[in-house]
Amino acid sequence: MHPPVLLNESQIIQNIKSQQNPFFKDYLACYSTWLGGITTDPHWMIVPMDDHLVTRGDGVFETLRAINHQVYLFDAHLERFWRSAKTISLEPPMSQAGMKEIILETLKIANHPDTMIRAYLSRGPGNFSVNPYEPTGPQFYLAVTKFNPTPAEKYEKGVNIGISKIPGKPSWLARMKSCNYLPNVLMRKEAIDRGLDYVLGLDDQNYLTESATENFIIIDSAGILTCPMPDFILQGTTMGRLFNLAKQQGWKTAVRPILMDDLLQAQDVMMIGTSFGLLPVTKFENKILGTGVPSERFKQLLNWLLADMGL
Ligand SMILES: Cc1ncc(COP(=O)(O)O)c(C=O)c1O
Repeated sequence: MHPPVLLNESQIIQNIKSQQNPFFKDYLACYSTWLGGITTDPHWMIVPMDDHLVTRGDGVFETLRAINHQVYLFDAHLERFWRSAKTISLEPPMSQAGMKEIILETLKIANHPDTMIRAYLSRGPGNFSVNPYEPTGPQFYLAVTKFNPTPAEKYEKGVNIGISKIPGKPSWLARMKSCNYLPNVLMRKEAIDRGLDYVLGLDDQNYLTESATENFIIIDSAGILTCPMPDFILQGTTMGRLFNLAKQQGWKTAVRPILMDDLLQAQDVMMIGTSFGLLPVTKFENKILGTGVPSERFKQLLNWLLADMGL
């Protein structure tokens, strides 16, 4: 095959503009420091090929949700973003307040009430090396996309989970949202290939950790709302918020190691994360778990969370 040599810019622009992507219909607006502004044309949602984010996974990210134009748990997400960046010694190219303004401006241009906000901080364009000191400077990429709700059936009938065979991440990597998400990608693939909704990882002591991009929590056999220890999981903003809401309502909560047996004997098992909120788990490895139907306590927690989200 002989690729053409593109000698004029208009040909390059024409080629980029002719690219089709079925997901473009959901892309509402993007901003990047590289682009130097906001655009609603998804063809310009591009990252330089030599950005170390692309070549080495050298970057961190956050995914936020806006509901009725309001960003849910805005500060908690930005604080986690800054913590992740600090872990890899990446200095964001703007302040937290500055990033907040950019996100709000891009949301305004996106002009849609229910969106997902995908934010990436990268080491920046460099020379294809692994050396993080070589890039010309960190970049911030932001995309606002339409929110696609999880089918109502998942809340009404529950989800089916299993155990992952993908080796878990080391603690330091699991605790941040780095752009090194290959284990998470493979967990998602594993779940899809096995016809499951989610798979849960195991740490080196066989304690359950989390799923590809969501946490799991239980109401244990003693009735205590429980989440795993923070060592091998991402500290979910949704999980943190729900635990506070439950505590305010007088519920007992705990953070402790969770074994498979704890999960099998739990009164409730739930998945929790930014995009879907809270989902009941009613099947484990294709077998009915507990009563096999979402409990009243699950519904109570979901209602508190939805009210907090303004839904
Ligand atoms: C690995 C992982 N665990 C858990 C979560 C859930 O976190 P949050 O509730 O902040 O979406 C996410 C999503 O960000 C994730 O990527």
